[in-house]
Amino acid sequence: MSTISVFPVLSTRKKVTTLTFHQKKERGEPITMLTAYDYPTALALDQAGVDAILVGDSLGMVVLGYENTLPVTMEEMLHHSRAVARGAKSALLVGDMPFMSYQVSIEEAVRNAGRFLQNGGMDSIKLEGGRERVGAIRAIVAAGIPVMGHLGLTPQSIHQLGGFRAQGKTALAARRLLEDARLLEDAGCFSLVLESVPAQLAEYISQQISIPTIGIGAGAGCDGQVLVAHDLLGLFDRFTPKFVKKYADLHADMQKAFRDYIADVQSQQFPAPEHSIVMDEREWSEFLQSAEPEAQPA
Ligand code: KIV
Repeated sequence: MSTISVFPVLSTRKKVTTLTFHQKKERGEPITMLTAYDYPTALALDQAGVDAILVGDSLGMVVLGYENTLPVTMEEMLHHSRAVARGAKSALLVGDMPFMSYQVSIEEAVRNAGRFLQNGGMDSIKLEGGRERVGAIRAIVAAGIPVMGHLGLTPQSIHQLGGFRAQGKTALAARRLLEDARLLEDAGCFSLVLESVPAQLAEYISQQISIPTIGIGAGAGCDGQVLVAHDLLGLFDRFTPKFVKKYADLHADMQKAFRDYIADVQSQQFPAPEHSIVMDEREWSEFLQSAEPEAQPA
């Protein structure tokens, strides 16, 4: 069984909890959430002051290079969750349950949710789906594990949804989404992600339920916002969804840095003297004498 190494990462911020989420909604303060999959990103996010870090199964696409999120396993999620937990001490940590870790049975759902807290260092879990997940959500919450729901575009169902497409665009679909949101609230979710749904609908749902909604491609009327960090940083260049605002172009920056390094090595500009270790003169001549005694004058 895996263990979590504890490193003394210092933080002056108070730990964000599910209670903080509720208080923020009550006060009308927007909640911030971003994804992370590794230690340095978690450290940077935590120090920047983000409320919550989601170890999303988007890991599969933006880090592991899969076509979609379906191949991601529990082991991969736990491996990356532990790295994030080592770096983030204040943000609320949310582990995303991968495809087939909660759909087969309620028992498996509870066991796998528990692994995120026991072996992954997470504070809570997220899972996708509406009315069909109520049983699993109730059981996980009853086990003392906070659950974040996820409605709208649920990427683990892309084959059922017909691709990565916006949801809730007809009156009927919007009605169903609102019903699902109420059911998830009633089942005990502490928060709810709304992905790729019309802004008016997301705002309406946010006003109708008491738990905070976290939007991604769901407009400004949600109680909080989440983005995939690799999209925001411009690190994932396969495609950028319409709802992403790019705050950096790290893919281009990374390429430039790599090209500069290659050019420096090829032109022998790197390593320069300041990057090299110099040996004490006396030690060096002593070494030369001992290394090649026959070459030295008698
Ligand atoms: O996996 C993920 O990153 C997510 C967010 C898009 C909400 O589920």
